[in-house]
Amino acid sequence: MTQIGAVQPWSLGLTLFVVLGAALHQGLAAAVAPPTTAPATAAPHKDPSRPERGNYVVNSSNGTVCLLASMGLQLNITFSSLSQNKTVQDVVNIQPNVTKSSGSCDADSASLQLITDAEKTNLTFYFSLNTTSNKYHLSGVLLSAARPDMKAVYVHNNSLDYLRGTLGYSYMCREEQTLIVVPTLSINTFQVQVQPFGLTGKQFGAAEECQLDEDDMLIPIIVGAALAGLVLIVLLAYLIGRKRSHAGYQTI
Ligand SMILES: *[C@@H]1O[C@H](CO)[C@@H](O)[C@H](O)[C@H]1NC(C)=O
Ligand SMILES: *[C@@H]1O[C@H](CO)[C@@H](O)[C@H](O)[C@H]1NC(C)=O
Ligand SMILES: *[C@@H]1O[C@H](CO)[C@@H](O)[C@H](O)[C@H]1NC(C)=O
Ligand SMILES: *[C@@H]1O[C@H](CO)[C@@H](O)[C@H](O)[C@H]1NC(C)=O
Ligand SMILES: *[C@@H]1O[C@H](CO)[C@@H](O)[C@H](O)[C@H]1NC(C)=O
Ligand SMILES: *[C@@H]1O[C@H](CO)[C@@H](O)[C@H](O)[C@H]1NC(C)=O
Ligand SMILES: *[C@@H]1O[C@H](CO)[C@@H](O)[C@H](O)[C@H]1NC(C)=O
Ligand SMILES: *[C@@H]1O[C@H](CO)[C@@H](O)[C@H](O)[C@H]1NC(C)=O
Repeated sequence: MTQIGAVQPWSLGLTLFVVLGAALHQGLAAAVAPPTTAPATAAPHKDPSRPERGNYVVNSSNGTVCLLASMGLQLNITFSSLSQNKTVQDVVNIQPNVTKSSGSCDADSASLQLITDAEKTNLTFYFSLNTTSNKYHLSGVLLSAARPDMKAVYVHNNSLDYLRGTLGYSYMCREEQTLIVVPTLSINTFQVQVQPFGLTGKQFGAAEECQLDEDDMLIPIIVGAALAGLVLIVLLAYLIGRKRSHAGYQTI
């Protein structure tokens, strides 16, 4: 009889454990979900591996370094295939070792031009600086590309708002991000660090980490706190169980 009384707090603790575990699992799934991209599974076409990280430099007209970028880039293009006579989707990595970078810098605008594949792909990033708020962002992307199987692609969008940073700091994001340029072109970025304004030498300024990375660091903290909570609950249930069973013996 006394033993049955002692079991109840235990089963309560176990139930709580299971419920909390399930809640934690769902919370984690939700926390992990936001980086929207589904790498390696969804693309019908060949899906290259993670792109290599390239280091790109733009010098100003007086020879000083005015833009630094270090990132892995993957283009996700929808285009008309001539040989297949239909619209296809292709995922292409930018290979740093066959990519030339150039560009220009002004007081409130800067550009980074990446030319690859014997000059058949021209990817240009445009950055703008708001001199009132001292904030910069990626404001435009232009892509022109031509391949034997492809009708020439030329897309641009000058009203983008990505990679937001503060003058004097670099923008950094370790997590993969998807920059949607137009419905037929998105760019997956990997391990981005970029500074288009306010460089004082050949090095990046202090990094401002993107929200995705901060969320990422939050997960271990949440997991740790939840686990500590669970341990506490089980311990309490155990102690209460022991106390009750002792109380039970005393009454007999
Ligand atoms: C490419 O874009 C399509 C949607 O336009 C998406 O379904 C697919 O997952 C993307 N592929 C990659 C590797 O990002
Ligand atoms: C930019 O300047 C650096 C030295 O500051 C030099 O090493 C590099 O070759 C220059 N790049 C270009 C494209 O002129
Ligand atoms: C070079 O030009 C940049 C602007 O493009 C300016 O901030 C910098 O002071 C110039 N450096 C020299 C040595 O003139
Ligand atoms: C391409 O497909 C369209 C229909 O989708 C067809 O009318 C056309 O004849 C095809 N062209 C070639 C060269 O196969
Ligand atoms: C560029 O690097 C890739 C691997 O990252 C390699 O397969 C390719 O041969 C390299 N190309 C040149 C021209 O070095
Ligand atoms: C790449 O595109 C930019 C923007 O249209 C243009 O100014 C530049 O000349 C192009 N570069 C090459 C090599 O085609
Ligand atoms: C620059 O920032 C200020 C303050 O945040 C804002 O009022 C202004 O509209 C911005 N200018 C541009 C061109 O975006
Ligand atoms: C350009 O980007 C903006 C912001 O992402 C988007 O609202 C707009 O539809 C895009 N323009 C085109 C032509 O896709």
